[in-house]
Amino acid sequence: MNRPNVSEVDVRDVTFGLRVKIVQPCNLYGCEIGDDCFIGPFTEVQKTARIGARTRVQSHAFVCELVTIGEDCFIGHGAVFINDTFSTGGPARGDKELWRATVVGNRVSIGSNATILPVRICDDVVVGAGAVVTRDITEPGFYVGNPARRLVRKENRQFD
Ligand SMILES: CC(C)(COP(=O)(O)OP(=O)(O)OC[C@H]1O[C@@H](n2cnc3c(N)ncnc32)[C@H](O)[C@@H]1OP(=O)(O)O)[C@@H](O)C(=O)NCCC(=O)NCCS
Repeated sequence: MNRPNVSEVDVRDVTFGLRVKIVQPCNLYGCEIGDDCFIGPFTEVQKTARIGARTRVQSHAFVCELVTIGEDCFIGHGAVFINDTFSTGGPARGDKELWRATVVGNRVSIGSNATILPVRICDDVVVGAGAVVTRDITEPGFYVGNPARRLVRKENRQFD
């Protein structure tokens, strides 16, 4: 009978700040996680990813290589980051020259099941549940939908 090559979920080569809480099982490797962060179960944070102090990464989130997340952020359940946009018509298949980075500012909250393509998100942004962020976000505010667009909230309607 054929035997697969099995790797275990692990926490290895991670630079942790102080007072970090993680809930197993999670697969964290080669990343940096700042002071007072929380990393929930069934998450993956890949190498070179950086997560700033006091940020919470909720269960089932996926933070891939080349993602930098600021301080005091909230990454909702099942939120997914993307570094390979299939720019040549399919997966880069390990050609990291084709991968692109994402930078998330401080005090950014990303709702459950949101998908973040390689973009820059400024400080003080809320991304709604299920949003697909395809373009840089350069103004603080609420962004929802696919593709994500700025939400004109009722209390701000007279100003937006
Ligand atoms: C984006 C969000 C913050 C907006 O909240 P809000 O300002 O109270 O917005 P409202 O509920 O008043 O909705 C305003 C409009 O946006 C729409 N909307 C709200 N959230 C939306 C979303 N995630 N995607 C698409 N449209 C959304 C509403 O349908 C409504 O549209 P309408 O004016 O045409 O009826 C919130 O809906 C959301 O998605 N939060 C994420 C919460 C989350 O994932 N938490 C994780 C931990 S449990």
